[in-house]
Amino acid sequence: MPLQKNLRNLTIKQIEAQDTYKVRLPVLRPGRPIEDCEFNNDTHKDTFHLGLYYKSDLIGVVTFMRTINEDLQERRQYQLRGMAILEEYQGLKYGDLLIQAGESLVNEKQGKLIWLNAREIAVRFYERNGFKVSGDSFDIPKIGKHYMMYKTI
Ligand SMILES: CC(C)(COP(=O)(O)OP(=O)(O)OC[C@H]1O[C@@H](n2cnc3c(N)ncnc32)[C@H](O)[C@@H]1OP(=O)(O)O)[C@@H](O)C(=O)NCCC(=O)NCCS
Repeated sequence: MPLQKNLRNLTIKQIEAQDTYKVRLPVLRPGRPIEDCEFNNDTHKDTFHLGLYYKSDLIGVVTFMRTINEDLQERRQYQLRGMAILEEYQGLKYGDLLIQAGESLVNEKQGKLIWLNAREIAVRFYERNGFKVSGDSFDIPKIGKHYMMYKTI
């Protein structure tokens, strides 16, 4: 059952972890083996993945995982991971649709806060979606500078 549908032939629905690899690989792990697309807890029962389809093509993905980040006081927290839109569809604000759909599902599951580690180039995108930077930047090996960001919902 689609979570969201609009006039631009875009649909968002829940997908399996393995389905996300088709978008994670070219966007987040280019040139790396498919095994590098897998995240810890991808198949955990509390994890969910959303796929954004243009007509029948999967063009964007995002993953939400229940976490226990001790730096956060709010315990009903989810981490947003693996946000990716295929290159030819970037810059069209489609990422906003995945964030909005994810937030409403987290809300349904009684989650109160979403946090993430943002690549430097994506900080503005998350800020526009209501996330705030917390603390200084830090390095994630092979990927680069990141900022922890969060949003209470
Ligand atoms: C980050 C991402 C999910 C945002 O989704 P989106 O639908 O492209 O979001 P927007 O349309 O708001 O564009 C985001 C930014 O990318 C820029 N951009 C990226 N590709 C673009 C393109 N082909 N044409 C125009 N702008 C583009 C936009 O100008 C915007 O820049 P700004 O934030 O400085 O204003 C998506 O661009 C993406 O998958 N990027 C590569 C992977 C990545 O960095 N993921 C985040 C990991 S934390």
